[in-house]
Parts: sequence; structure tokens; C-alpha cells
Amino acid sequence: MAGRFEGKVALVTGGASGLGEETARLAVAEGGKVVIADYGVERGEAVAKSLGDKAIFVKCDVTIESDIAAAADAAIAKWGRLDGCFANAGIVGISGPIAATPLEDFDKTMAVLVRGVFATYKHASRVMIAAGNGGCIVGTASVAGVMGGLGPHAYAMAKAGVIGLARSAASELAGHRIRSNSIAPGSIPTGMTAHVITGNPDDVEKAAERMATMSPLKRAPHASDIAETVMFLWSDGGSYITGQNITVDAGLTMGAGMSATWNDVRMVVAR
Ligand SMILES: NC(=O)c1ccc[n+]([C@@H]2O[C@H](COP(=O)([O-])OP(=O)(O)OC[C@H]3O[C@@H](n4cnc5c(N)ncnc54)[C@H](O)[C@@H]3O)[C@@H](O)[C@H]2O)c1
Repeated sequence: MAGRFEGKVALVTGGASGLGEETARLAVAEGGKVVIADYGVERGEAVAKSLGDKAIFVKCDVTIESDIAAAADAAIAKWGRLDGCFANAGIVGISGPIAATPLEDFDKTMAVLVRGVFATYKHASRVMIAAGNGGCIVGTASVAGVMGGLGPHAYAMAKAGVIGLARSAASELAGHRIRSNSIAPGSIPTGMTAHVITGNPDDVEKAAERMATMSPLKRAPHASDIAETVMFLWSDGGSYITGQNITVDAGLTMGAGMSATWNDVRMVVAR
């Protein structure tokens, strides 16, 4: 089903690797064009080059407002419109016990995961409103923002914030035909999770194997599971959906895989 993003333009922060890269590639495969915004210059330029004239790379640190403003403006300067935005750049940030957390590290984590996403929303919506074509912004949350125990405290707090912003912005932006949703991935093999799981950011394959054994659906997750969800939200298929958080986690946060005890016992209606 190619062509779901035909003639449209997207801005993807954190587009130089992992979930962002996969989504940028899918946007082009579906007929669109993409601005890859990332502070990883070498990786970002390589991804953009591999997509030919359908992609440009803009060096962008989402903690710097003028960088993200310039990335949004680049979409308009190059292609005259912005239809989709994936506010996705992220880091794991500070981890460890709350009582031992240096607040400067908390601030640095929030600068990327909360302020960076807010700034991306700010400038993506600014240019979308001016272009007048509507649009769809998707923020990357996490299952850690939905359920306890699935990530570091600051990360969990930030990701719950992404869900809150997606919902809040949806109420304002609906009047401009701009939709706003978040997605909450479970564990997906990328450089970030490979680093956490195997100690080596390049060992994405080993991370995927480990994740397959833990998945309620008993298969390895893939970055395409996220890219496809973003594409669904960006495209006509998701055109009546706004203000929602969509978990893409094989049902982990819904208790999938935990019901074995109940399914194995004799059915009891009354005692
Ligand atoms: N992989 C998972 O299992 C998973 C699960 C839940 C949420 N997430 C979220 O998905 C997003 C993407 O992560 P990923 O797994 O693809 O990891 P990744 O490390 O492969 O990609 C993250 C990208 O963000 C960029 N980035 C980081 N800080 C930046 C900044 N200040 N400015 C601009 N770019 C910056 C990095 O250079 C990198 O290209 C993150 O927000 C992460 O928290 C990932």
C-alpha cells in the first residue's frame, strides 16, 4: 500500500537513527519528503544522502530553540509545506534512585525529553498553521510513561509529559485541522536499547533476540512497528484520530502474557 504520504512533507527529530530513521525512510517510501533533524551530523547526513533528493538533513539540537525553529522553517523553504512531524529525539537520561539524583542531571534530561518535544510542537505547529494544510504531529512517549517500573524516574516522568502535551495540544490545534497524538513504544531494538541491554549500541541484533524472548507476542519487535504506527497516524487511515496515546508494546501494559493462571483454572461462576 505505497503512496500513503504522497506529495507530503515531514519533519523527524532524532531522524539520524533508530525509530526516527525508520520513520523517515518510510515517509519517503510512501511518496513523501522529509527533513531529518538531529544533532548527530555524520549519521544524519548519511541517512539523508541515502534518500536522494527526497530528504534534507538539518543539524538540530532540540534543546536549542533556534535550531528546531530552523528545522521547521527548512521544510517550508525547501518544499513549501509541512504535513507530518515526529517529535522523537530522545535519550535515556539520568537513572538511579530518586534520593541520589543530581538535579542538574534531571534538568538535562528534561531539556531533551520535555522542553525539546515542546519546542518541536511549537515550531511544527507554527509553520503548519501558516501553511494552512492541516497536519499531524506525533510525539514519542514510552510505556515507561504509562506504567511504573519500565524506565528511569526522570524518563518516565518526561514520557508521561509527552502524552499530556499530545492531548493538550490536540484540543487547540483541532481548529487548524492539525492532529496531535503520542505513541508509547515498548522495547524496540535500536542503538539506545542495544546500549542498555547489551552494553554495545551497535549490537541491535542481540538486543532484538533478547526482546523476542520477553515479548508477549513471542516475536522480535522492530523499528518498523513504530514507523508504521506513525505513518498510520500521519496518513488518511488515522485522519479522525487526535489527542490519543497509542501503545505499541505487544500488549505489555495491558497485561498480555500474564493471564496464564486464569486461563488454566477450572471455570467458576459461583461458589
Ligand atoms: N527504542 C525503544 O525501545 C524506545 C522505547 C520507548 C521510547 N523510545 C523513544 O524513542 C525515541 C527514539 O529513540 P531510539 O530508540 O530510536 O534511539 P536512538 O538513540 O537510535 O535515536 C535517538 C536519536 O535522537 C537523537 N538525539 C538525542 N538527543 C538529541 C537532541 N538533543 N537533539 C537532536 N537529536 C537528538 C540522537 O542523535 C539519535 O539519532 C526516543 O525519544 C526514545 O526515548 C524508544
